[in-house]
Amino acid sequence: MNQRPDAAPEPRRVGKTELHLVPPASFAEAGAEVLAAALRGFRKRDLSVALSGGSTPGPIYEALAGFPGIPWERIGIYFADERAVPPDDPASNYRLVRGALIERVPIPARSVHRMEAERPDLDGAAESYERQLPSHLDVLVLGIGEDGHTASLFPGSPNLRETARRVAPARSPSPPTERLTITPPVVRSAGQIFLFARGRAKAGAVREALLGEADVSRCPARMARGGTWVVDTEAAAQLRL
Ligand code: 6PG
Repeated sequence: MNQRPDAAPEPRRVGKTELHLVPPASFAEAGAEVLAAALRGFRKRDLSVALSGGSTPGPIYEALAGFPGIPWERIGIYFADERAVPPDDPASNYRLVRGALIERVPIPARSVHRMEAERPDLDGAAESYERQLPSHLDVLVLGIGEDGHTASLFPGSPNLRETARRVAPARSPSPPTERLTITPPVVRSAGQIFLFARGRAKAGAVREALLGEADVSRCPARMARGGTWVVDTEAAAQLRL
């Protein structure tokens, strides 16, 4: 095989999921590569891309900002969830995405759709955001918690049974507890889902979400099956493939 020695290994199929197993050192670059390929591939006028926060995707977003040929001028940025904090709070997902990506690429300000989770009326904020969300997201970027949550859909949450509302208030077991999140109908109607997982602490959740029998109420990240997963070898440690 005449692959470049430093090229990312070929992805494998696990059921309907495309799994990219990568060394920890190349995780951010590999994540950015799959996202860049997807964004370049769209010929639509306006793309809707919803991003997750947390600590995992920041380096991916920073690497993505350096990739050429991405039609940022026709990409709308949305959020999968947000903590109930002001947009400049260190815990804000918007603040993370603004610093890692938005400030580094030519996305028009009108194309960035922030979840106003700092509003006292979270139900009202959810309804406002729902009106901004397109009927179907073109791209949805998800992470996974050690408990198998994704976005701010936590195991056992009544939001996992939501069929009507597309954005809802949520309560996290870890602070910041109050949040806004997209709901399963939004996840399930997304065109392309990307899930990023890094680190040994996620190995159990990755195994359960990808291979386990637990249903979505016990392992919400299972909803990302069928998408494209970029997992470093640490987070893949319990996958017996
Ligand atoms: C958030 C994210 C959340 C995240 C997981 C994993 O608001 O925290 O949207 O769903 O993807 O909690 O978080 P880490 O990447 O920090 O492990």
